[in-house]
Parts: sequence; C-alpha cells; structure tokens
Amino acid sequence: MSNKPIYVTRPFLPPLEEYTELLKGIWESGILTHGGKLLQRFESELCQKLNIQDIVVVGNGTIAIQMAIKALELKGEIITTPFTWVATVSAIKWEGCTPVFCDINPETLNIDSAKIESLITNKTVAIMPVHVFGNPCEVEAIHAIAQKHGLKVIYDAAHAIGSTFHEKSLLCYGDISTTSLHATKIINTAEGGACFTTNDELLKKLKRIRFFGHNDNKEIVEDGINGKLTEFQAALGVANMKYYDAVFEDRKRKCLLYKSLLSAHNHLIYQKHIHGEHNYSYFPVIFENEHQVLNVEKALNAQQIFPRRYFYPTVNTFSKIVEYMPTPIAEDISKRILCLPLSFSLQDEDMEEICKILGKAL
Ligand SMILES: Cc1ncc(COP(=O)(O)O)c(C=O)c1O
Repeated sequence: MSNKPIYVTRPFLPPLEEYTELLKGIWESGILTHGGKLLQRFESELCQKLNIQDIVVVGNGTIAIQMAIKALELKGEIITTPFTWVATVSAIKWEGCTPVFCDINPETLNIDSAKIESLITNKTVAIMPVHVFGNPCEVEAIHAIAQKHGLKVIYDAAHAIGSTFHEKSLLCYGDISTTSLHATKIINTAEGGACFTTNDELLKKLKRIRFFGHNDNKEIVEDGINGKLTEFQAALGVANMKYYDAVFEDRKRKCLLYKSLLSAHNHLIYQKHIHGEHNYSYFPVIFENEHQVLNVEKALNAQQIFPRRYFYPTVNTFSKIVEYMPTPIAEDISKRILCLPLSFSLQDEDMEEICKILGKAL
C-alpha cells in the first residue's frame, strides 16, 4: 500500500545516488546553466528517444508556448480549446494575442476540428490545439484548415511526450509543438518544457529566443527571453531518461488495470483514442453527472485519496482573464470528469481500493 495521502500523481524520481553522481560533474565544471553539458546530453537523449533531430529544452511549458508565439511573430486571434490548463491561454494573452474558444469533441476531448472554420475571422493568425491527456488531435484535418486559411498551428503538447501519430512523435506536427517537463509529467526535470519544429530556421530562432535573442556571436539579433533550463534540472532529466520506458510501460499497464477494475461500471465513459497512439499519461473518467463526481471525490478524499477535476472549470469561464464564449460540450464534460491517481509509485492495491471506493460511492 502506498503512503497516504495519495495524490492524482506523484513525480517520478530516480535513485538519489544516480542524481548526485551527475551533480558531481556540475561541481567539477562550475557550470550551472547556459546550455551546459547536462542540458546538451538531456536534449540529445530526448531526441534519440523521440526519434527527432533536435529540440529546444526550456524552463517550463508555459514559456515554451510564449516562445513559439514569439518565434512565429503572431499578433491577433488564436483559436484554442477551453478544455485545457490555464497556461495555454495565459501564454496566448501574455504574447498580446487574443484567445478564441472552440468547443471540443465529446469523445476525444480535443478541439473539434469541424468547428474551427466558423471561428476564423480576418484577425485569426493561428490555431493552438492541445493534445489533451496526451491524446493526439486530428492533426491532418487541422493542417488542412490551416493551409486553406494561411494560419499557423502551434500544438500545446504539454501532456504528449511519447504520443505518436503515424509512428512519428506527435511533436513533429504543426509549425511548432511545445511540451512540458513539469514534475507531474511522464518525463520530468522538476520544472521544464520544450519547443520542437521540423523547420531548421525556426528551430535556430527558438534557440536564440531562449538565450535573450543572442546569436552565436553573442550579438542581440532579436527579442528574446531567459528561457534556459539549469544544469540541476537537466541532471534530473538525464537521470530520469534511464527510466523513461519503465515509466511509460507502468502507466500503460495501470491504465489497463483501472479499466478492468472498473469494468462492472458500464456507464463510465473513457476518452476515445481515435487518431494515433496516446501515452497513458492520465486516467480520466467521465461520469453521468456532476453529482456522481462530487460523491466519488468526497468518498476518496475521506480516505486521503485526492483525484483531480482536470479540467474544471473550463478556461473560457475565467471571467477575470477572458471574455466568455459558450462552449457547451467542454463545459458539460468539465463538470463530469475526474482524473484518478496515476503514478509510478501507485500500488495495485491502491488502485483496487480506489476502484472499490468509487464503486460504493456511485
Ligand atoms: C495543457 C497544458 N499546457 C501548458 C502547461 C504548462 O506547462 P508548465 O507547467 O510546464 O509551465 C500545462 C501544465 O501542466 C498544461 O497542462
């Protein structure tokens, strides 16, 4: 049995001695940040794992989105989903753009590509879908819409490291994809994120933006920011990379176990994975109504178990930061969804207990 409390997730940590071994190198070199050896090693191991050429690892997933908007020089409306973490939208706003909310597909929980075109105006500059819970969006349909209307596509792939479409990393789709390496993600650097693009010039530009807008000669050639990841964080990334496959396999096994433990409750609905392969990074359950969610949450909380209502409420309802636009499907699902605990340290007995409590509460 895991130690209580059990949270929706628990960060993966490598054996401490494997991390401290890497720290010795930092003490020897005296290099703490600025694209040091550990960052380079982490980037290269990540690329190898994802089968991509290069990647720009940065301080967090939010700044990765801001850098992507900056690199594409976007100013105007960006069509996105309300069923996301607030960071998707705050990054859009922080870069002086306006979020426009498109409703979601009730089965995949991703932006509904059939509803995007009706939201395009003469101010629209981009589409920013989110691969929600690592579930690949309809990348081909979204690409076609973007091509037709001359729009850029930035995928917020914060949840989607390890997900694929047509056997390629999901990061390969869109003009730029961004991801998060936050403590709760499949591969973590405590705080961290990354930008990826298949366009070499854009990739170089993202690297300059990450480092205050410097070129290789240390001249300032454009607007940049401090987007760097420290060597301490990169060391955690390197140490964690060794366990990437084990973590991935573990999540997959546990998601399947949850489904079998809950199989008697045939009114529960699960996210549909129609386009490509997802990464099992979350275990969301959709209930019949909010009352059931609240009952299940209360019963689990009473036993020191804390699932999360991801994503509740939807971002379009955050009246202090955005203008409300109705998205009835997202708003309905948001009230009925609960992500159950899922982490490497979660024990099978914990999952059995969670499912029993859930069943009783229904
Ligand atoms: C969909 C989504 N986008 C962006 C972010 C921001 O990532 P970070 O916390 O690394 O800044 C998150 C964070 O979890 C997220 O869930």
